[in-house]
Amino acid sequence: MVNESGGVHWHEQSILRKDRERLNGHRGGVVWFTGLSGSGKSTIANLVDHKLHAMQVHTFLLDGDNVRHGLNATTSRLAQQYNDAFGERFGLGFSEEDRQENIRRIGEVAALFAEAGLLVLTAFVSPYRRDRDAVRSRLEEGDFVEVFVDAPLEICEQRDPKGLYRKARAGEIQGMTGIDDPYESPERPELVLSSGQDSAESLADEVLRYLRAAEKIPSTA
Ligand code: ADX
Repeated sequence: MVNESGGVHWHEQSILRKDRERLNGHRGGVVWFTGLSGSGKSTIANLVDHKLHAMQVHTFLLDGDNVRHGLNATTSRLAQQYNDAFGERFGLGFSEEDRQENIRRIGEVAALFAEAGLLVLTAFVSPYRRDRDAVRSRLEEGDFVEVFVDAPLEICEQRDPKGLYRKARAGEIQGMTGIDDPYESPERPELVLSSGQDSAESLADEVLRYLRAAEKIPSTA
């Protein structure tokens, strides 16, 4: 833009979330899977991710076990260096306080990705209602889709994909969610998936139906 003095000025124009959403052809947002370890959160979220990707929806999946290897590493050299330098704990374990910080960080990352116009999928145990609600209130109205992956503890224990329940029952690990640590079910989740009975495939389709009805993705997708 050339002004009266003949100077050329850069016209600052920030790109808004709605501009990014228009480009993407769908809304941004966060689909938050919560449930016991072994309930099927990651499996279902992965299937949803694949299906959305095939429909040209821009997604990103944040998964508990992966994020705990990096950003929220339970033990890492980097975390150790920070701990030594600042006299604080940067690596996160499974105490109530550490889980709270884990979920807070994930919530912030998810909020940024939603702002970038992505449909973010998260798969974390996130056992405390208060922590999940804090993420919900951090986001814009309607941006937080809480999906309760509801599988009975007995089924999660039978599946025991990582052998953690067996270890917890044997007293080898403490603070395992569902055994000697609490899990607070959502009171008003947007969606409940009965993960003990139906296949992961049909549960993933249920999520897609919800997202279409909520106009998060185009009805044609
Ligand atoms: S959260 O409680 O802070 O949301 P997150 O989803 O990141 O937990 O990590 C849970 C994963 O860590 C589980 O799937 C399991 O593999 C592993 N894990 C290790 N120790 C525990 C524990 N004490 N309770 C629950 N999960 C644990």
